[in-house]
Amino acid sequence: MRKNIIAGNWKLNTTLAEGLELATGLNEVLKGKSPKCDVVIGVPFTHLASIAAAIDTRKIGVAAQNSADKEKGAFTGEVSAAMIASTGAKYVILGHSERRAYYHETPEILQTKVNLALANGLTPIFCIGEVLEEREAGKHFQVVDKQVEASLFELSAEDFAKVVIAYEPVWAIGTGKTATSDQAEEIHAHIRATLAAKFGAKAADDCTILYGGSMNAGNAKDLVSRPNVDGGLIGGASLSVANFLPIIEAF
Ligand code: PGA
Repeated sequence: MRKNIIAGNWKLNTTLAEGLELATGLNEVLKGKSPKCDVVIGVPFTHLASIAAAIDTRKIGVAAQNSADKEKGAFTGEVSAAMIASTGAKYVILGHSERRAYYHETPEILQTKVNLALANGLTPIFCIGEVLEEREAGKHFQVVDKQVEASLFELSAEDFAKVVIAYEPVWAIGTGKTATSDQAEEIHAHIRATLAAKFGAKAADDCTILYGGSMNAGNAKDLVSRPNVDGGLIGGASLSVANFLPIIEAF
């Protein structure tokens, strides 16, 4: 059975003090509740250890937003999957469109990052999605297929079973322009069929596929009500408990 997950992606936001306040605030409000989904927060590297120590990580999983494509060594400024795992974080967001576009992360680099995450016991939240021109040209199915094939198709069935996918149309990220639930359902079903052709129907059915791109309290219910939408990766609306909680409660 696949899991439902609501994951926040804080991006380049919050000082350590602000991040701790946000994370512990969320921890507090979730104390008396039993959400019908797993909850994850993707926080800056500098916050990982402190946040993992300050909250109940059985209730809120902690994610990094990137990791190095190297195991260790002379790579100044990089943070490895092993380092992330050593903080108590259990997830890592990989292949976000901002990393692909601004930091030139190629499918090959991302494949290495996925492998290193899995080797270190982290759950990759692997992001895919097309840009506006690709959608307008009707190429979005092809684009996501290629992204999945290039970075995930070398995985063993056992490792693939640990991967979470986040479909994030780039034109919907931070723009306030959400994909309709019909658009999300259509492409999620397509992604699942692509996964089924490679890994088998059962593995594809068990794979959690999140939607991301301007998801908020107003549209979350509609999106997660669709059979192939198993939750969300939320940027802007994850930066306050007041905005994030109703998305968790959309299930
Ligand atoms: P957004 O970001 O919710 O602010 O659109 C989503 C994401 O980039 O993961």
